[in-house]
Amino acid sequence: MADPATMDKLVSLCKRRGFVYQSSEIYGGLASAWDYGPLGVELKNRIREFWWREMTQLHDNIVGLDASIMMHPKVWEASGHVENFSDPLVDCKSCRHRFREDQIPEENRNSRTCPDCGGELTEARQFNLMFRTNIGPVADEGSVVYLRPETAQGIYVNFKNVYQSSRVKVPFGIAQIGKAFRNEITTKNFIFRTCEFEQMEMQYFIHPSEDEKWFDYWLEQRRGFYDKLGVRPSKIRLHEHGPNELAHYAKKAFDLEYEFPFGWSELEGVHNRTDYDLSRHIEFSGKDLQYLDDQTRERYVPWVIETSAGLTRTVLAVLSDAYDEDVVDGEPRVVMRFHPKLAPITAGIFPLVKKDGLADLAREIERELREDFTTFYDQGGAIGRRYRRQDEAGTPYGITIDYQTKEDNTVTLRYRDSMEQVRVKRDMLAGTIRKSMKDYKREDR
Ligand code: GAP
Repeated sequence: MADPATMDKLVSLCKRRGFVYQSSEIYGGLASAWDYGPLGVELKNRIREFWWREMTQLHDNIVGLDASIMMHPKVWEASGHVENFSDPLVDCKSCRHRFREDQIPEENRNSRTCPDCGGELTEARQFNLMFRTNIGPVADEGSVVYLRPETAQGIYVNFKNVYQSSRVKVPFGIAQIGKAFRNEITTKNFIFRTCEFEQMEMQYFIHPSEDEKWFDYWLEQRRGFYDKLGVRPSKIRLHEHGPNELAHYAKKAFDLEYEFPFGWSELEGVHNRTDYDLSRHIEFSGKDLQYLDDQTRERYVPWVIETSAGLTRTVLAVLSDAYDEDVVDGEPRVVMRFHPKLAPITAGIFPLVKKDGLADLAREIERELREDFTTFYDQGGAIGRRYRRQDEAGTPYGITIDYQTKEDNTVTLRYRDSMEQVRVKRDMLAGTIRKSMKDYKREDR
């Protein structure tokens, strides 16, 4: 069955329901910058927390870090970003549109014609993607700093600090989540590619003789992560980088791709970065960043297997994956089928009517559930409409308090996906929801 999600529908739902808004909209917006609204920030936080728990708590020997966004400018010389981190840029001499040369159709590349108007294209110029700014009151070459284009370098420059202060032994990993910035030329497809975004990266330091083994291990782990996140497995595939695609630091790389409404595109990269980064930092800083194995007494520069995921891009994948439409009682329904552990609101609480003490009782039940779940109380409008509003927000459980509740202390629990309704004792409600969240399985069609 064709996937009902399109980018237009997603962008409009995100604005309507408060997931994502255009940045500075009242001033006409800022291209490629987006703000996360009340539901969007909850969703992003849940994905972030899930990744963090998976990568740190649930793995042996992975510790966390939160490095600064602005770093010593030498970091980016050593990393190769000053020299190599650029895109080839071409302009149309007629319509003035600007493209990344590697992203225009091959026939336009060969004929040097504009994909939009057929005009003549300029020769390609290399355009460095790093944002430059200055620290201090004088804006000269001596005060230049860059906004980091990846979080990884904060990990490499702290490699020695971490291993000396945390008693970790190779193989071990350092995980970090944070903002990264790239002056991207192509800025379409909503939050897919933006100038300011968030990455969830982990650098795993290994003995060089074990690179194949750990590469395969991490590729498998990261593939499994998206299953756990509730993303349909049929929507994820692997793509190995050919020699022309490999980044300047990589010996081997795979992308995990997701089938977005606009096609298959990269969601995460798993890279064998060899000893490239640590060796370059040894060369540029003059510091010894070797690791001493206290068992074998071998001294060496560890190699790195990196897993690098985009948090904001994962939000888009989760939104695209969740979007669904069906028909209920002859009326179309939009439903966001988030995994319950990611849903911004876990349970909607609805008194059937406001009068006869039902609203007070519903408030009381909401306060009980709030201890364990994110809840939303709604007493406005027909019950069907209230359900539908929560379906669109992706709330997996609806709880209705009615006259029977007053008599026997039971409530109606409604499941978002199947719309099945069951009667549950009030004191069993939290446990029933917790179990359903744990057992949840999305239908992959
Ligand atoms: N440290 C390695 C690194 O940064 P990358 O393939 O350039 O590798 C990793 O980026 C991930 O970061 C991508 O798979 C994507 O999810 C995310 N990402 C990169 N550029 C992005 C952008 N402009 N907007 C949103 N996400 C981006």
